[in-house]
Amino acid sequence: CGIIGCVGRGDETLDTLVHGLSKLEYRGYDSAGVAMADDSIDICKASGEISDLKTALESARLSGSVGIGHTRWSTHGPPTDGNAHPHQDCHGDVAVVHNGIIENYQTLRDELVAAGHTFTSDTDTEVIPHLIEDELDAGRDPENAVRAALARLEGSYAAAVVVAGTEAVFAARNDSPLVLGLTEDATFLASDVPAFRDFTDQVVYLADGEFARLESAGWTVTDLDGNLVEKEVDTVQWDPEETGKSGYDHFMLKEIHEQPRALRQCLRGRVDEMAGTVDIEDLADLSPSGVQFVACGTSYHAALYGAQLFRDAGIPAQAFLASEYATAVPPIGEALVVGVTQSGETADTLSALRAARKRGARTMAVTNVVGSTAARECDHAFYIRAGPEIGVAATKTFSSQLTALNLLALGMTNTQEAREVITALRELPGNVQRILDESNAEEVAETYEHSDAYFFIGRGYQFPVALEGALKMKEITYKHAEGFASGELKHGPLALVTQNTPVFAVVTGDGEQARKTLGNVKEVEARDAPVVAITDGQSEVERYADHVLELPETHPRAAAVLANTHLQLVSYHVASLLGRNIDKPRNLAKSVTVE
Ligand code: G6P
Repeated sequence: CGIIGCVGRGDETLDTLVHGLSKLEYRGYDSAGVAMADDSIDICKASGEISDLKTALESARLSGSVGIGHTRWSTHGPPTDGNAHPHQDCHGDVAVVHNGIIENYQTLRDELVAAGHTFTSDTDTEVIPHLIEDELDAGRDPENAVRAALARLEGSYAAAVVVAGTEAVFAARNDSPLVLGLTEDATFLASDVPAFRDFTDQVVYLADGEFARLESAGWTVTDLDGNLVEKEVDTVQWDPEETGKSGYDHFMLKEIHEQPRALRQCLRGRVDEMAGTVDIEDLADLSPSGVQFVACGTSYHAALYGAQLFRDAGIPAQAFLASEYATAVPPIGEALVVGVTQSGETADTLSALRAARKRGARTMAVTNVVGSTAARECDHAFYIRAGPEIGVAATKTFSSQLTALNLLALGMTNTQEAREVITALRELPGNVQRILDESNAEEVAETYEHSDAYFFIGRGYQFPVALEGALKMKEITYKHAEGFASGELKHGPLALVTQNTPVFAVVTGDGEQARKTLGNVKEVEARDAPVVAITDGQSEVERYADHVLELPETHPRAAAVLANTHLQLVSYHVASLLGRNIDKPRNLAKSVTVE
């Protein structure tokens, strides 16, 4: 979910809130709403996207100079108007927006109902305004009423509150992100910086257990007991334009095309091709005896690739799904635990990292977001520098993760192939550009737009690419797609292969892996399945392929990024032909801050 709050924008408050929500829509788009406060509170909310909220606002007359807003990704209760945030108390004097899950909500709700409160939604959030109402009725001032109510919550939350007759927004975080934006005469609050980046680059990141009071004249941060906390004001390093579509039909397509630039940024100042060395500063001294990666979704595929990089350098390394790791932590020994997370806010990944820390492990975040929770909580952070990614399906951040993981592995280990890999990395932005310019992915998409299912196979570094190719296809086309290690196909999935299930085979080089994958391709071809080969032409795979997506000859590690670029484009074009909601696929959210 995404939260916004704003004080000090006068007549422009409502527009500012709605603008901010549209920038946060990637965090959820099941329903949205705003609350404006002066002597009373006006609310407007609607199921659906921010555009539906805008329509609803045309006939609603909202007034007030302070406000909060929310865009929702459902966890408790379906995405109806009634379940949309903000939620209110019985008198309508308090409005609350919330991101996270309140674990003890049923107990609190039962207690409040027994005391005479009436609930109007199925959400866990609604207990908060009712708790605040009780505290106000007991005579507390608004700030302390909000504090006292929040103190009763168990679970994760980022919450923002307005109270009628009080020209302030109150907010607190526990396990869900919140950041303040500052200008001379207005103060903003949001789940993420893009929500207010058009107005300011001055930000304050809240930490867990902190409480903020925002007024037009300023802001204070305290702990939940009311003791002042000194906060640092940071300056955001990216421009507001970076969060626009720049003429592309979709953010996803724009971000696919931004990959050459993103990769250059990732490499900048970190590689010396002449010397055959990388510079990852003090991280090079870590020289871990083992590495455990934890991650989810696309980042998990990057983690699988990362683990292989370290294993190839002789260091035991494994990738774990963060949600599994968090509840069944494996023996860690002396291993470094690395969370790969674009947003740095994924609850499952944070929870795995915290579990590792609790057992005394050293932790590192490989992330895109400076100031994110993962970056702040881990002992070390390594930034992938991809720039803001808005499309829900990860694209440029995956390529940047693979590139950054190569730098980490080169910097922390002694790899014989270092020079060769560095050259391939240097050539990567140019090679990705060539694929963007020349790929025949659109033609492949047109041929297979109506297939029953799509399978992806690859070996070694191309195995995570196969998994990622399938995930991308599922996410944005809603079609059945699966990725397999090439060798596994014959151990079951081959039963699914028919002439209506194209198999995308990533085959690079002419070594043992290519020869073996070629064997698997023949198995598929013998069952009449169409074959799309993503290949550099060094093996014979083209002879068995119906379509070829060409790769230049390069190191297999770099080929993985290039093959993935073709596959991103295939998924994008299939989704586009099918008329899908590409940037905001159904049921998904970019940043999932609940476990
Ligand atoms: C969500 C997104 C995925 C993403 C995953 C991990 O599920 O929909 O696209 O890969 O979270 O996100 P992270 O920010 O931790 O990389």
